[in-house]
Amino acid sequence: MTSKASILIVGATGAVGTQLTAYLAEKNVSFKALTREGAKQTSLIQYKGAEIVHGDLANMNSLKKALEGIKKVFLLTDSSEQAEFLQLNLVKAAKEEGVEHLVKLSQFAADPVSPVRFLRYHAVVEQKIAASGIPYTFLRPNLYMQGLLGFRKLISEQGLFFAPIGNARISLIDIRDIARVAGEVLTGKGHENRIYDLTGPEAITHEEIAACFSEELGRPIRFINVGPDEMYQELIRFGFPQWQAAGLIEDYAHYARGEAAGVSAAVKTITGRSPRNFRTFAQDYASFF
Ligand SMILES: NC(=O)c1ccc[n+]([C@@H]2O[C@H](COP(=O)([O-])OP(=O)(O)OC[C@H]3O[C@@H](n4cnc5c(N)ncnc54)[C@H](OP(=O)(O)O)[C@@H]3O)[C@@H](O)[C@H]2O)c1
Repeated sequence: MTSKASILIVGATGAVGTQLTAYLAEKNVSFKALTREGAKQTSLIQYKGAEIVHGDLANMNSLKKALEGIKKVFLLTDSSEQAEFLQLNLVKAAKEEGVEHLVKLSQFAADPVSPVRFLRYHAVVEQKIAASGIPYTFLRPNLYMQGLLGFRKLISEQGLFFAPIGNARISLIDIRDIARVAGEVLTGKGHENRIYDLTGPEAITHEEIAACFSEELGRPIRFINVGPDEMYQELIRFGFPQWQAAGLIEDYAHYARGEAAGVSAAVKTITGRSPRNFRTFAQDYASFF
């Protein structure tokens, strides 16, 4: 059977990917999802028009096979020590297979000379994509609101969350809005060779996040500002690999310096809808906390 899907989603089982595949399915857009054998695929199987192709970014042969007949690719991985290598494999395979549009999920303030390792690797991959000549769109979202789900247990049991961020403002974004932008970019026109900063509608402090949670959950939620060393130890205790934990500390230092407070109009411009504010996130996810 010949597939009519010409879009390949890499990272479909993750946080943003799950929202993106739901969005495409809702719009009746056929797509393929690259998943590793044994990965959690239940949410994908339920979608009409979704086709699972087994493959691994570490395996070039599997990538080339997955890219047969594909015109557009959405690329996302988690920020692991291998992320740059894995994403560059996809770029190489996409170039060889004649992909016509590569949409890469990057990060706000990606920069090859950033002190933040995640921002450096994203910038390196962006540069390689641009140099490959494949038409691209780079989506650079700010901190995910859904990242607070990592504090779900602490918030629900002890009414607190913490970070080494001080009073810095940050224009965090709901991943449902990132997915909507990605869906529009993959199915719309005129997004080639563009870079979009993706933020929420406002830059807020973690004290303001706590106040909003308190109001929406109907009980006091406290934000505790911690030092970077304490945060690092907590991340290690939680099971993060050292490379990633150190990267998150660099990320927080960048937020604390006020470098992620800019607000972009891109979500509204691309989707026609304003991005969700933190209150809407807190209301929609109240049952998780
Ligand atoms: N968290 C934030 O606040 C934030 C802010 C801005 C930007 N970002 C960026 O967002 C990205 C993470 O997004 P996310 O949270 O949606 O990711 P995620 O939930 O961690 O999901 C990662 C996805 O990558 C897939 N993957 C990993 N290695 C793979 C491989 N070798 N072959 C095929 N697939 C592979 C995973 O598949 P499996 O199911 O097989 O594991 C999974 O679907 C990172 O690049 C990060 O820098 C994050």
